[in-house]
Amino acid sequence: MTTKTKTHHYLSVTDMTADETWQLLRTAAEFKRAPIYRPRHGPLAQQTLAMIFEKPSLRTRVSFETGMTQLGGHAIYLGPADIKLGVRETVEDVALTLSRMADMIMARVFKHETVVELAKYSTVPVINALSDLEHPCQALGDMQTIVEREGKLAGVKLAFVGDGNNVANSLLLAGGLMGMHVTVISPPGFEPAGEVLERASRLAKDSGGSAKATTDVEAIKGMDVVYTDVWASMGQESEAEARKEPFRPYQLNETLMKRARPNATVLHCLPAHYGEEIEYNTSRRKGSAIFDQAENRLHAEKALMVRLAEKS
Ligand code: CP
Ligand code: NVA
Repeated sequence: MTTKTKTHHYLSVTDMTADETWQLLRTAAEFKRAPIYRPRHGPLAQQTLAMIFEKPSLRTRVSFETGMTQLGGHAIYLGPADIKLGVRETVEDVALTLSRMADMIMARVFKHETVVELAKYSTVPVINALSDLEHPCQALGDMQTIVEREGKLAGVKLAFVGDGNNVANSLLLAGGLMGMHVTVISPPGFEPAGEVLERASRLAKDSGGSAKATTDVEAIKGMDVVYTDVWASMGQESEAEARKEPFRPYQLNETLMKRARPNATVLHCLPAHYGEEIEYNTSRRKGSAIFDQAENRLHAEKALMVRLAEKS
């Protein structure tokens, strides 16, 4: 009988150290160069990833499922109607059952507490594939993209323009961990949570980065990387109309981009609402890396799954 070591999860960007995050980014770059393993001979041969989705997805589902196939394993999609997490049965029972059959669990949920509870009861690694609080796998793919475009993370000045949401939170924490200077520029009332800013600032003390929030769009001046996301996230559809007015001055367009560094890297996690948070031509301008970002989800998540399997 083998003695099982502690199970490791990835619910937040801060669940890996800066050194481990760099190791993940190096592995992701290797995977990008030589992505395909023969099935049954890859690092996760014969392993199964259970994928729980309470919300829709294109990139997350396809990157995890494809990634698992390329690593020699297999992924099972469990959509909102399949298990009805917390309704048909408790989160605890889902975690305990999946731990008996699957080797890893990935979950996209409404409430962050749900991934925390899954991780509490699961004996296999749990990966947060987006909650209301964080989107750490997106941040991993984003960091890989920033390294490709900017050649580094430490010292990079990144502005996130828009809602202080899950994607903004993970970028703030990633900046704090890896030494980036992250500024979230939001309309009044839509700033990131103070608790996340405080955690990111505490991390930044060690890494040399910084974490800030402002309502002033002029803060985009001289930024190396400019990032945006939808004004109303999944689950906030009823607020979408009312948000248009306060968010309009925060649209990423050619006028705003003139104030950033010339040829600044443009990022968007996608899906995009063209004409709202970003103009179509700005998403396609020189410097845009939005489809590199999408592709890098695959490489970064493969690196993450291999690392979690090794650690647990
Ligand atoms: N960026 C992202 O997570 O995309 P999906 O919602 O399509 O998975
Ligand atoms: N903030 C968005 C990200 C989608 C990938 C949402 O939560 O819907």
